[in-house]
Amino acid sequence: MTAYQPGILAPVPAHSRYLEFGLVPNSDPAPALKALASRAGGEDIVVGLGQALVRALGKTVGGLRPFPAMAGPGCAVPSTQADLWLWLRGADRGHIAGRARGLAQLLQPAFRRDRQTDGFKFGRGLDLSGYEDGTENPEGKAAIEAAFLRTAEAGLDGSSFVAVQQWAHDLDRFETLAQAERDNVIGRRLDDNEELGDAPASAHVKRTAQESFNPEAFLLRRSMPWAEAGGEGLMFVAFGHSFDAFEAQLSRMSGQEDGITDALFRFTRPLTGSYFWCPPVAGRGLDLGAVGI
Ligand code: HEM
Repeated sequence: MTAYQPGILAPVPAHSRYLEFGLVPNSDPAPALKALASRAGGEDIVVGLGQALVRALGKTVGGLRPFPAMAGPGCAVPSTQADLWLWLRGADRGHIAGRARGLAQLLQPAFRRDRQTDGFKFGRGLDLSGYEDGTENPEGKAAIEAAFLRTAEAGLDGSSFVAVQQWAHDLDRFETLAQAERDNVIGRRLDDNEELGDAPASAHVKRTAQESFNPEAFLLRRSMPWAEAGGEGLMFVAFGHSFDAFEAQLSRMSGQEDGITDALFRFTRPLTGSYFWCPPVAGRGLDLGAVGI
């Protein structure tokens, strides 16, 4: 397989910055993307391109599509599709802030920065609800199989497709629930992270059990908490060799299959939703050959 962006497989870092950009109308994205490509490819950054941007370059990437909005009983899942996504990763917020500024300058004037959120690792990898996030992630060879496309097509082998959703929690509301009720929302016990045998069908891990889909729907989740003046929650980030596994899970979570909504919606809701294609790496940078750069 061609090299993939190493930040995808690497463990979640201590700190992150998520940046979403829009392409400025009537501008040529190619020079900025070329400059970006030579500065990416390391573990400290993951880059994703949205479908409209790929189209603006006169190309298509098989399987790349816009994020689908969904609505179900008592839940709404918005699509806020962006053109370009940068996930900056590291141990030091100061370095990340400097890097972000430099990259935003590099991308001007073709790209406009629309969103910026900082993420952080909580303890051993907890969501702000206190539950461990990522327990059932595939590892090693299974993680590579889940997250990366294998194809003979040059420029696409080693690609990944990422779904990004910023979720806002209402933790005051979650904390009004008794402990057993909170465990039923997730489907795991807070105390020891054990899966509950008798969890209700609405429990999050029942809704998303990866082996329960046909075909099986494995994802490589790399989510991190965020907390700002405006709120707090989880930046949900999931990589796949296509968007299909994610979309099957999100459909079931939002009640499309059986009318049962994921109990997570009792205390959290997605504010954003975007899909991006993460190109492979060649030499010391991104391989943007598939989009003609
Ligand atoms: C605020 C949003 C979310 C929170 C707080 C959250 C939290 C959790 C927690 C605590 C677990 C159990 C431990 C683990 O295996 O990681 C879990 C499992 C999982 N979640 Fe989420 N999650 C969220 C959104 C999503 C979304 C949007 C999807 C996919 C559409 C998803 C897919 C999964 C999958 C595939 C598993 C593992 C299921 C299994 O095979 O056992 N999660 N999540």
